Amino acid sequence: MESVLECIKTRRSVRKYKDQSVSKDLLKQVVEAGLYAASGKGKQAPVIITITNRELIDEITKVNAEIMGSPNTDTFYGAPVIILVAGSLKANDKTAFADGTLALGNMMIAAHSLGLGSCWINRAKEGLKFDVYKDIFHSLGLNADDFVGVGHLALGYPEGDLPAAAPRLPQREFYID
Ligand SMILES: Cc1cc2nc3c(=O)[nH]c(=O)nc-3n(C[C@H](O)[C@H](O)[C@H](O)COP(=O)(O)O)c2cc1C
Repeated sequence: MESVLECIKTRRSVRKYKDQSVSKDLLKQVVEAGLYAASGKGKQAPVIITITNRELIDEITKVNAEIMGSPNTDTFYGAPVIILVAGSLKANDKTAFADGTLALGNMMIAAHSLGLGSCWINRAKEGLKFDVYKDIFHSLGLNADDFVGVGHLALGYPEGDLPAAAPRLPQREFYID
């Protein structure tokens, strides 16, 4: 296994996935990395919803593509898993969004370390206003209105090699001694 720093540097957004499901054990390891993310005041407020049901993935994809303004686009790149992260406005209204982003970041690194690929897919904030998302929350005994959609991960086994990272832009690091 690569070091954490290597994993951070070699992770890439994956936009092509093998037609291969991911075991529950691996999914739980990825999600665990999200659950262990730091959170404002240690409130552990974000919820992490892992979806492997193909019909539901297709419904979410349809909504996501509509929000993006490109109907009929597979915005999740055929991934067999979607992980939706939402921040709890009730538990941590001031840091709800930031809490969720860190959970997503942790999971992206963890997924890569486990040989999985992921890609952050946007438009979760808007998504929560749609019935398909509201129904998901309702089915889990939650009210979507109490949450802010932060992001989704498309997740699965990468098809093909990962590209190298783009060179890092200069003049973004400063040190004051
Ligand atoms: C907040 C955020 C939103 C993103 N939304 C999308 C998206 O909707 N669709 C997509 O294909 N990639 C999305 N990405 C992935 C970025 O395009 C990707 O991280 C960037 O091109 C750098 O590539 P890398 O992740 O391989 O380093 C998103 C990334 C972030 C951090």
